Amino acid sequence: EWTTASIVDDQVAKVRAQVGDGRAICALSGGVDSAVAAALVQRAIGDRLTCVFVDHGLLRAGERAQVERDFVAATGVNLVTVDARERFLDALAGVSDPEEKRKIIGREFIRVFEQAERDLKAEGDYRFLVQGTLYPDVVESGGGTGAANIKSHHNVGGLPEDLQFELVEPLRLLFKDEVRRVGLELGLPETIVHRQPFPGPGLGIRIIGEVTADRLETLRAADAIAREELTAAGLDRTIWQCPVVLLAEVRSVGVQGDGRTYGHPVVLRPVSSEDAMTADWTRLPYEVLERISTRITNEVPEVNRVVLDVTSKPPGTIEWE
Ligand code: XMP
Repeated sequence: EWTTASIVDDQVAKVRAQVGDGRAICALSGGVDSAVAAALVQRAIGDRLTCVFVDHGLLRAGERAQVERDFVAATGVNLVTVDARERFLDALAGVSDPEEKRKIIGREFIRVFEQAERDLKAEGDYRFLVQGTLYPDVVESGGGTGAANIKSHHNVGGLPEDLQFELVEPLRLLFKDEVRRVGLELGLPETIVHRQPFPGPGLGIRIIGEVTADRLETLRAADAIAREELTAAGLDRTIWQCPVVLLAEVRSVGVQGDGRTYGHPVVLRPVSSEDAMTADWTRLPYEVLERISTRITNEVPEVNRVVLDVTSKPPGTIEWE
């Protein structure tokens, strides 16, 4: 019988057979797939798995804690966090072009991960690399195996092709809904299992213009408010995701508190979708929009205007960059 529990048992046995008494590394992104893959492998080989989490400084509020505290509490996994915030900021300084930003973020991620990998290899026999590849990824990439098929174009978790690793892909036969059920079966918190998609390059591609520490702080605050209110309104499973985008190089006049301001707009981009290939803008209740707008303009001093993106995909993509 094809129950979730039997999928777990089956995959745990397969991982044990593959890894033997070797050691494995897994890059955690904060997303569902890598979290479930890691939890499954940790169930199979325990502390011979080490997870690496790169804090590139482009995360949303609370995401690092979610990995360091909640994921570790749920799984007992060995975790190494690499704080690379400054390095990414330095690399992104002066860059506004979206593709350039993506390239830099991807490149720096690989360099940081390679360093972490070398450090681990100096300590033990780490020969295996865990990847949260799902069945649709396998089909998309032609069904082959190996590093060349990692969806590097879309995931900052995309890793260099010359790493000397054997891949462990325990989710290779599963669809997303099955992965979520496996995650729950393994005791992962709902906040991780039902996390909405979030791009690997993170807030870096939601600041239109150069990425700076101040702008990140502004966007992180606005984004946290939008997410809080959407969650409070019970809309998390209705919307696919709701990027909040900071138009860092646009200013408009406002009145806030006692005086005239000249601040930045943020864009709310709530979308409904099945697979992110096409999307419709979500008709959010006016009261929810109003609460988000009022709170952001009250609580985030740099933002004096909140606007709504009412474009479908196509022609608009979900992200602005
Ligand atoms: P777009 O903007 O292309 O986004 O309509 C489609 C979906 O993909 C996510 N996205 C990314 N995910 N790395 C990722 O892991 C990326 O570079 C990336 N770019 C976009 C986006 O959030 C949406 O869910």
